Amino acid sequence: MNTDTRAVAARALAQVALSGHSLREALALTLPTLTDARERAFASTLVHAGARGWLRWNAALLLLLHKPLPRRLGDLQALLVLGLAQLEDLGVPAHAAVAASVEGAAALGHGAQRGLVNALLRRWLRERGTLLPQLDANAEARTRLPGWLLDALTRDWPDALDAIVAASNREAPPMLRVNLRRVRRADYLARLAEAGIGAHAHPWIETAIVLERSLEVGRLPDWGAGACAVQDGAAQLAALLLDAPPGARVLDACAAPGGKTCHILERGAVALTALDVDARRLPRVRENLDRLGLTCDLRAADAQQPAAWWDGQPYARILLDAPCSASGVLRRQPDVRLHRRASDLPALLERQRALLDALWPLLAPGGTLLYATCSILRAENADQIAGFLDAHADAQAQPIALPAGRRDGAGWQLLPGDGALDGMFYARIGKRGSS
Ligand SMILES: C[S@@+](CC[C@H](N)C(=O)[O-])C[C@H]1O[C@@H](n2cnc3c(N)ncnc32)[C@H](O)[C@@H]1O
Repeated sequence: MNTDTRAVAARALAQVALSGHSLREALALTLPTLTDARERAFASTLVHAGARGWLRWNAALLLLLHKPLPRRLGDLQALLVLGLAQLEDLGVPAHAAVAASVEGAAALGHGAQRGLVNALLRRWLRERGTLLPQLDANAEARTRLPGWLLDALTRDWPDALDAIVAASNREAPPMLRVNLRRVRRADYLARLAEAGIGAHAHPWIETAIVLERSLEVGRLPDWGAGACAVQDGAAQLAALLLDAPPGARVLDACAAPGGKTCHILERGAVALTALDVDARRLPRVRENLDRLGLTCDLRAADAQQPAAWWDGQPYARILLDAPCSASGVLRRQPDVRLHRRASDLPALLERQRALLDALWPLLAPGGTLLYATCSILRAENADQIAGFLDAHADAQAQPIALPAGRRDGAGWQLLPGDGALDGMFYARIGKRGSS
């Protein structure tokens, strides 16, 4: 790896941690400047590790520096955070991590700071025995989670807190969903083995394959022919729990980027309408549908305003994969912890409530609405659904029981790491009466 890899990663991390860019955006902007696929993969690993460890290693930097670096040195700050993450989390040998960080400073145009980078990282190595306990005395630095989220998780899941923190800070295994319309899972596993890609079947999710390590999707056999998609197993449960019968009218109210939409269509021929309020996100849904050989009625529309798009015919199934805090998927989206604020929650809760209320009249009697979030906060999940059931006499929770996770109120909560999956909540709500 050359030093430019570190410099590119530092620029991307500074964009994420200091300028509010999403990790996906920052990588899309910066990685193409690296021509070698292995360097791109390493830079991506670095940025993920840097975002995951920011609250810890940036606090360590403050211990070393006593005052923050000036804003104009934001990329150098990110380079130093990456240096510490390499030393402490990624197992990069000390001499390599220090030397490459020093060179990285020069590549960033901060040649005058090479001595500072060298001195700080070497001091860390000398004094880490006394500095680590100081870091661990600070809850954010210890858990790598923002204080507001830590408080909420302590309140909601006191007994599972340590497991949630550990799982949220571990790199998640990449997972695929096999398109069973195109290929059987056993045959696809054989194709992966032939291609030298280590993988195994998820023990109880029939479409899921767990890969041993990340790789660019173009290297997956028959990717272009729609043999599979990248999707965590927890998200693959949505189509199974929705269980749309053949020919059913189905609404996917919050569809982009279309992972669950495609899975519902792969399971059987249904008349599916997929909406998303954000028109800029629809091309990705279209790309996924096209690659997987699927079709549906895809529209840019606000699910809260059915008068603008609904034809008046009720749906047998509605999937509401609601906008949420994403607190269950920090292991895959480490930037969420840096961007989400406690003050975002009231508006999210109100949107979830408004979406549930607006969509309920569109469900046929005897039909089922599946409410899903990738959150682990009770306010967005069990409490939200309890409030909905109280306010709708014709709504009845249908039990869910999965091999991992736990019942919570009227729904089912997977915490991150349960069954080696992301954190997700599902509640299945039936409408009384027959269609
Ligand atoms: C959790 S994501 C959906 C993920 C998607 N179901 C999948 O599996 O790929 C939530 C989506 O809801 C959309 N959304 C938020 N408010 C909406 C509304 N009022 N109407 C329709 N879509 C909305 C957001 O733009 C976002 O794309």
